[in-house]
Amino acid sequence: MANPRIAIFPGSFDPPTLGHLDVIRRAASLFDVLIVALLENPSKQPAFTTAERVAMLRKAIGPIGDVRVESFHGLLAEYARARQASVIVRGVRGGTDLEYERQMADTNRHLNPSIDTIFLTPSPAVAHISSTLVRDIVSLGGSVRGLVPDAVEAAIAERVLPGRSPRTQQV
Ligand code: PNS
Repeated sequence: MANPRIAIFPGSFDPPTLGHLDVIRRAASLFDVLIVALLENPSKQPAFTTAERVAMLRKAIGPIGDVRVESFHGLLAEYARARQASVIVRGVRGGTDLEYERQMADTNRHLNPSIDTIFLTPSPAVAHISSTLVRDIVSLGGSVRGLVPDAVEAAIAERVLPGRSPRTQQV
């Protein structure tokens, strides 16, 4: 394809949620190629390893359009340049997200003037979901059904080992 429109949907995805999946589906229908890019952040200790998160995302996304899942480290603006992407996609749930997202978008454009960020709003049915709250629920022994894709729920269930209280699990 000549000059495919390539977009990047970056994030921590720790873990991926139904909100992420909703944005991925919307973005996949808008671009020729969507790269779901998972940040490897050495200064953060994620609940799930990079390999686990990549596998969960791939399983959850399944065969929808040309969606690729990769991990990256370093500057997003540089990664976008290397992937010849012209657009960064971010999901915005409400006003609290917006100011932080606007600042990131402006900074990424400063670093790479050929990049624009577009904001997609998830379906209201999943707009309340966040990875932070999902981790909270899991650590307190609650169910995350309806908040995360089935593949992610299964991966989380494997973490809650038989014979140990979920409250003592580090998720
Ligand atoms: O899911 P998150 O944690 O909200 O995603 C944040 C992410 C990964 C998009 C952001 O932290 C990022 O792009 N980090 C890469 C480092 C970088 O480029 N920093 C300057 C961007 S303003």
